[in-house]
Amino acid sequence: MARIKPHVTIRGDFCIETPPQPCGLVIFGSSGDLTSRKLMPALFNLFRRRLLSRHFYILGFARTAPDDDTFRLGMRDELMRNTKKPATADLDAFLSHVYSMAGGYTSDEDHQRLRQRLATLDQEHGTRENHLFYLATPPTVYAPLVACLARAGLASEPRTGAGCSRVIIEKPFGRDLTSAIALDDSLHQVLAEQQIYRIDHYLGKETVQNILMFRFANAIFEPIWNRGYIDHVQITVAETLGVGHRAGYFEQAGVLRDMFQNHMLQMLSLVAMEPPASFEADRVRDEKVKLLRSIRRMPLDAMDDWLVRGQYGAGEQEGRRVRGYREEDGVDPESTVETYVAARLMIDNWRWRGVPFYLRSGKRLARRVSEIAVYFKPVPHSMFQPIAPEELVPNILVLTVQPDEGIALQMQAKHPGPKLCMSSLMMDFRYREVFDEEPGEAYERLLLDAMLGDQTLFVRRDDMEVAWSLITPVLERWEAEGKAGAIHEYAPGSWGPAAADGLLARDGRAWHIG
Ligand code: BG6
Repeated sequence: MARIKPHVTIRGDFCIETPPQPCGLVIFGSSGDLTSRKLMPALFNLFRRRLLSRHFYILGFARTAPDDDTFRLGMRDELMRNTKKPATADLDAFLSHVYSMAGGYTSDEDHQRLRQRLATLDQEHGTRENHLFYLATPPTVYAPLVACLARAGLASEPRTGAGCSRVIIEKPFGRDLTSAIALDDSLHQVLAEQQIYRIDHYLGKETVQNILMFRFANAIFEPIWNRGYIDHVQITVAETLGVGHRAGYFEQAGVLRDMFQNHMLQMLSLVAMEPPASFEADRVRDEKVKLLRSIRRMPLDAMDDWLVRGQYGAGEQEGRRVRGYREEDGVDPESTVETYVAARLMIDNWRWRGVPFYLRSGKRLARRVSEIAVYFKPVPHSMFQPIAPEELVPNILVLTVQPDEGIALQMQAKHPGPKLCMSSLMMDFRYREVFDEEPGEAYERLLLDAMLGDQTLFVRRDDMEVAWSLITPVLERWEAEGKAGAIHEYAPGSWGPAAADGLLARDGRAWHIG
């Protein structure tokens, strides 16, 4: 297929910017992977792009934490490794805002010490008692930790003239509907909803946010964004890695919890929701929740027609021998935990009635790619006889979320020459080529928004509950089936089990990639 690079001229940038606010950020669980690989690099990038207030500090808090200087040295190494071309002067300046403290997550005494430390740091940095607490700890301590914060007087609601207190919660947020509601109830005993930031890092990805611009800042797509013109939609999140050292977590989770309850359903809701009246947090989230509520429940008695779960076996991937999921360290040799899920979802509303949404996500697949492919219907009549309308390659709009973020439109064009020949070509726009910069890390945008008190890209309580209510019956069904349940093995480096192809083949369709 021919590819044409459109010549894109960027004319007139409109930026909606809010000045950064003074803020003291406390990261609970600062000795973990997330802090060094994602959070600190994101904060450093914000700092060097002058997006943080001058009045800020970061306090790492962990059960065993080094002193300030040792923590800074360790973080310096991580920033050198995990960020692009860090200048020494920038690193020094940034690290002078970084501190470390050891303490128990659920120790009242240590939270009192934390309170005193924050008072000192607030004075030194002029942060006006604005605190953002990032919970990157094991999920079992979320509720007791927040209760300790409250008892130490650190969780009070934002009041005029006083500082604000916000809490970012990492996933997993519960492991089913009941446990998620229980966790939420305990958080709500001491926090108001506007203080709770349930993070889904997919919502911070540039291309995921661009879905909103693409759909609602252009007039030409919305009129055709419905059952009249769209045949079906595919959302793929494929990873090449296996579970690696996260087997302990993964054995309790599986792809349905790990990817579908959050990232996949969040992307689906942005693609399919109705236009919000404004870009205010609650207006956008109202529409997302409405959409999730319109998703048809999975018919549990005919689940195989709607859902395929798989698990990677042992084999070769990229010329390397890799272990099967059941042979990974920390995995039950008879585990039925799924490393792949493909689902066919229907949305029962006026816009989408009859349009299937096929979602799939898996580990150890052929290529790392996340994309949304929107397939349009064939032309209603072909004037190019004898070619029938269905024989013409349909228009496909592909939003690539990662890597190589971009938007491409497949269309038909006349092949040059005296004969009447048609070719499929791709109009292809890549972020990196057009804007001459790599899209920022998802955590940058989300941390900045949390510091600004903007919850648009965070998951609201009802959003989280509806997502759990959609997948919990399936999880319960699988649990009841136990080891007798059908799970399809697939080869590492493949596109998943053949049964997942069958899911689309039954409808006369095929996956966009694979
Ligand atoms: C996380 C999941 O939320 O997302 C991981 O827990 C998964 O299992 C990861 O690998 C994928 O994120 P990204 O940004 O690498 O696509």
